[in-house]
Amino acid sequence: MFPEQRPRRLRRTPALRRLVAETALEPRHLVLPLFVKEGATEPVPIGSMPGVVQHTRDSLRKAVVEAVEAGVGGVILFGIPLEYDADGSRGLAPDGVLNAALRDVRAEVGDETVIIGDVCIDEFTEHGHCGVLDEHGRVDNDRTLRIYAEMAVAQVEAGAHVVAPSGMMDGQVAVIRAALDRAGHSEAAVLAYAVKYASAFYGPFREAVDSQLVGDRKTYQQDPANAREGLREARLDLDEGADMIMVKPATAYLDVLRAVKDIAEVPVAAYQVSGEYAMVEAAAANGWIDRDRTVLESLTGIRRAGADIVLTYWATEAAGWLNRR
Ligand code: PBG
Repeated sequence: MFPEQRPRRLRRTPALRRLVAETALEPRHLVLPLFVKEGATEPVPIGSMPGVVQHTRDSLRKAVVEAVEAGVGGVILFGIPLEYDADGSRGLAPDGVLNAALRDVRAEVGDETVIIGDVCIDEFTEHGHCGVLDEHGRVDNDRTLRIYAEMAVAQVEAGAHVVAPSGMMDGQVAVIRAALDRAGHSEAAVLAYAVKYASAFYGPFREAVDSQLVGDRKTYQQDPANAREGLREARLDLDEGADMIMVKPATAYLDVLRAVKDIAEVPVAAYQVSGEYAMVEAAAANGWIDRDRTVLESLTGIRRAGADIVLTYWATEAAGWLNRR
């Protein structure tokens, strides 16, 4: 009366486990999000994201060099301006903090990693919304599209290899693709935040970018209840010419990630967002979980669910562990 089937045989030694591991996690799969603050003379710690800072232009360059040395797949930049206005115009200005940082980073590391710009005006508007408002205070989709198109071109001209529209305006990928092509940037790629939920897990990000937002983003970001709608969003962005698509957040949406992966013929990214980072850091700081193991397990889980690329605030550190393994 002994079991005939013994799955444990393949778990007996580290070498056996390595041989049969189904999911690989490598530094190249990881993309590091970075914040750069206009006028900062010292990096500013972000309280709800221990270990993450708002960089100065100088410290940003150093952080990118470290990430490149660790072999990460890419970096994505977010800017925090000194001045806000209704249209987020400092987000488009060639001398605005985000475009200046893209220029710095491209000059520093060239084509050694993939430099991504976040195309969205929420960091730059006085109301904190991802689009401009109409006379009733509603986010005006089509007027926002024109701004995104200009912002994407400015980012590519500053040095971004890839632009990542994150504002969830309908039609944003098509408009950006057309604007890039018209400006002679047909080689620049679009990573679409295709499936993006109105999530409480973005909480710490609001602190990270000194967000001006009052209220929520539920008229443009998706309802967490909806998975099929995520497939619709993904298909629309693919039809509009997205070169890669993203699901965000990651952990609470692994089912959506898998479903998107199953229909996408382009690389699929997942964003392990600020709240996912903060929860692990807080539990680890209390000694409640093993931080490093939890980080690797969460990244492996996101890869297993279907992500070709994972955006994570742990990118450089995790890449370091993976290199030493
Ligand atoms: C919008 C944007 C947000 C994040 C990335 N891009 C904020 C939002 O949509 O509210 C959140 C990332 C995170 O929480 O780590 N520019």
